[in-house]
Amino acid sequence: MPPLSNLATRDVETLVHPYINLAKFRETGPLVIERGLGIYVYDSDGKAYIEGMAGLWCTSLGYGNEELVEAAAVQMRKLSFAHLFTGKSHDPAIELAEKLKEIAPVPISKVFFCNSGSEANDTQVKLVWYLNNALGRPHKKKIISRMKGYHGVTIVAASLTGLPANHRDFDLPLPGFLHAACPHHYRFAEDGESEEQFATRLAEDLDTLIVKEGPDTVAAFIAEPVMGAGGVIVPPKTYFEKIMEVCERHDVFMISDEVICGFGRLGTAFGCEKLDFRPHAISVAKALSSAYLPIAGVMIPESMYQALLAESKKIGVFGHGFTYGGHPVSAAVALKAIEIYQRDRIFEKAAALSPKFQSRLSALGAHPLVGEARGLGMIGGVELVADKRSKRAFAPQHGVGARAVQCAEAEGLIVRSVLGDVLTLCPPLIISESEIDDLFDRLSRALDKTLDWVKREQLA
Ligand SMILES: Cc1ncc(COP(=O)(O)O)c(C=O)c1O
Repeated sequence: MPPLSNLATRDVETLVHPYINLAKFRETGPLVIERGLGIYVYDSDGKAYIEGMAGLWCTSLGYGNEELVEAAAVQMRKLSFAHLFTGKSHDPAIELAEKLKEIAPVPISKVFFCNSGSEANDTQVKLVWYLNNALGRPHKKKIISRMKGYHGVTIVAASLTGLPANHRDFDLPLPGFLHAACPHHYRFAEDGESEEQFATRLAEDLDTLIVKEGPDTVAAFIAEPVMGAGGVIVPPKTYFEKIMEVCERHDVFMISDEVICGFGRLGTAFGCEKLDFRPHAISVAKALSSAYLPIAGVMIPESMYQALLAESKKIGVFGHGFTYGGHPVSAAVALKAIEIYQRDRIFEKAAALSPKFQSRLSALGAHPLVGEARGLGMIGGVELVADKRSKRAFAPQHGVGARAVQCAEAEGLIVRSVLGDVLTLCPPLIISESEIDDLFDRLSRALDKTLDWVKREQLA
């Protein structure tokens, strides 16, 4: 290992980083990103990278957007902070809530603002509990999410998340959080099972789970339209239609976690529109402000609002809220982001670019290292396997996904590797057709180099 640079040494001695093997990281140090423009970011040596992950699935309008910068500066000069506690309010929060109601795919009565996707999903669960107390159903409190679903890392959100690393030795999940099966046809369908048959089986399994637990104890089901951090898993055809029917039958509140899929990622404003289901409530974050500032929201129906009214009247106060929830500068930036999405027809452009993105993506399926190349809209996952025919995965300790990420970085492309050596792609939605070609050319070269290494090390 070459010695770490001064900046890298300072990093290793001062920061705890999320989602890394902290022991190995002491040897490798960080990739320090210094600036960004358009779909590119530049490291501290000035090297350019295509940001193939839009940061963390969030910078949809890319970097250096002066309109967003200006919106923040103007609002900061006018009113740098205001809150929504104890009856106070401010223009940006009111306007943003109005805008979200206007573009919502289902009837939304009110918006509650938070700062992150985790806070939004924590809030969803608290609101569902509060709702069921208001409705005199104190035992209807269990929440069902899915294996490989990702909903964040605060204690409740991490309980919803269905990934082992988010639970192990954090003493999670909390009791009352259940995980239904993962809707990944490639990995979990039985031999010869069609997508529709697989979807039927998953819905039947969900029904069985709810019946076993007792429908009067199950409050809500939460799902991402397309799973992101679990490995970009597109549900099988008819999945949500069948799942929604089960939820409705057992009076289970359905929450769409649109933290990644919201704001055009699948070529529609919200992911549930693309996948054709109608949730009761929605979580948004990330691209809401194109990640120029942190902001998230919980969008709830009138029936839930009525319950909050009744319960807070009884108790005397609605005892929930974050200091920075609906921060005026973040809200002003989010408003501007949505204005740009609408004015520049970003969602329609994402839909128009998707066939190109998806055809370059699925062509990677022919690569000897790739078991499945999958995606929808402008999101993709490339699952690396040791044996294509048997779908045998690499042993995790070989770090094949991490190696591919390094090879991509050497090619000037940032991608991410998640559990099971799945490389994830989620470029800014402002990417052009020729930049999509460039992205996939770089990724193909990176896969070739990863394959050379796999052969040299005899890992397959
Ligand atoms: C679908 C989904 N929900 C929730 C979260 C959590 O968001 P945050 O990291 O802002 O807490 C994420 C983060 O990646 C996500 O992808």
